[in-house]
Amino acid sequence: MVREFEPVLPPYRIKVVEPIAFLDAKQRREAIEAAGYNPFNLRADQITIDLLSDSGTGATSDAQEGAAALGDESYAGARSWFRFHDEVTDLTGYPFILPVHQGRAGERVLFGSLLKPGQICLSNTHFDTTHANVELVGAQARDLPCPEAADLDSAEPFKGNIDLAALERALAGPNGGRVGLVLMTITNNGLGAQPVSMANLRATSELCRRHRVPFFLDAARFAENAWLVHTREPEYRDWTPRRIATAAFQYADGCVVSLKKDGLSAVGGFIGLRDRQLHAACEANLIATEGFSTYGGLAGHDLERLARGLREVVDPAYLRARAASTARLARLINEAGVDTVQPAGIHALYLNAGRLLPHLSPERFPGHSLGCQLYLDGGIRCAELGSLYLGTLDDEHRLVTPAPFELVRLAIPRRVYTDTHLEYVAATLADIAKDPERVTGYRIVSAPPLLRHFKVRLEPVSAGT
Ligand code: F0G
Repeated sequence: MVREFEPVLPPYRIKVVEPIAFLDAKQRREAIEAAGYNPFNLRADQITIDLLSDSGTGATSDAQEGAAALGDESYAGARSWFRFHDEVTDLTGYPFILPVHQGRAGERVLFGSLLKPGQICLSNTHFDTTHANVELVGAQARDLPCPEAADLDSAEPFKGNIDLAALERALAGPNGGRVGLVLMTITNNGLGAQPVSMANLRATSELCRRHRVPFFLDAARFAENAWLVHTREPEYRDWTPRRIATAAFQYADGCVVSLKKDGLSAVGGFIGLRDRQLHAACEANLIATEGFSTYGGLAGHDLERLARGLREVVDPAYLRARAASTARLARLINEAGVDTVQPAGIHALYLNAGRLLPHLSPERFPGHSLGCQLYLDGGIRCAELGSLYLGTLDDEHRLVTPAPFELVRLAIPRRVYTDTHLEYVAATLADIAKDPERVTGYRIVSAPPLLRHFKVRLEPVSAGT
């Protein structure tokens, strides 16, 4: 028998399970209305499939849980710290490692010591908390995505790259002296989960060295970036994902990493550094705000889970199966008539809601509308990445400048959902795609001035109003 698609087996089976909720249509309508039509306000027990984030939502392994029992909770110099430290040092090659409880804590500590007010931080794309932490120290965050990223449908393999020509112009231009940091996000979460090539990392590293600007990685998804390099960049076909990840870290002067993603654990993060003085400054800040430098806000059992997670996440069999599962979901969704940002990444798929719902103008937030419909129809929770999140509003909360695209992110937790769960997501979307005009738009009722999408409240708007 010739099979169209070979099944790719995950290298594990399920040992502990957690029940999920099945609300009926009336209960879902009441739940989302009470949540002000903002999925962030829903309770977890009102959700059937939760694709809001891949952060801290993965399943741990029996080996991780066994190791957690060995957690050494000594205040300083715990055995668990040394296990974590040695694993991170081996992976990254950096001489200085500082633990933090999650990525944004690392950003705050690092930028507080590295950036000065008035300086500029350049990136392929800053994640939202990263952007906020750059601006909180009085510096400016500027994104320089490569031009290929603007075409959502093109199959270019490395649409997460930084625009090298723009970077060179910025570094050599009149404001070049103000650039205090170049930060590469791997993979590029703000731009469709697209990877960054090793060639782009190497060229960025050389440019930064020439202009004497520190080059750091925001490496929250270092393992999936390594897998996509392995499969898409011919030079690295024979390299293991772990070796590719280490080589990527070696191009940079340091890194800030949320381990809630590729650490395969619910909490955690670290800062990796080469510079002794910068390490001393960050360490002082860390001790004052996060915890002593051998635990950084983490418990010993967290450090143990992370030390194992960092090994498990670079297992080629795990990465191959995860990539295949996401690609399969993308294919099912595309076959149902819903476009996704191409090519499919690993940790998330981005639905092109603007194209699916042309009857909704950006003022009616088509991405948000599609997200609400997925909850109303299937109890599926996801996040908008469109004008609600990125557009500018006037004082009456009316949209002034729309976002360039109206997207919805389906983030896929690690080792949590089976392909059957994901088929259900595709089937729910297929039903919407059969009659997209039934999807209503929304208007904002109230919104906070900062990080709007987390706390905004909305109401549905019937057609024509
Ligand atoms: N950098 C990137 C690229 C991220 O995606 C995130 C978090 C962070 C930094 C911050 O890390 O959450 O540990 O403080 N992303 C999550 C998401 C929240 O859903 O994409 P954190």
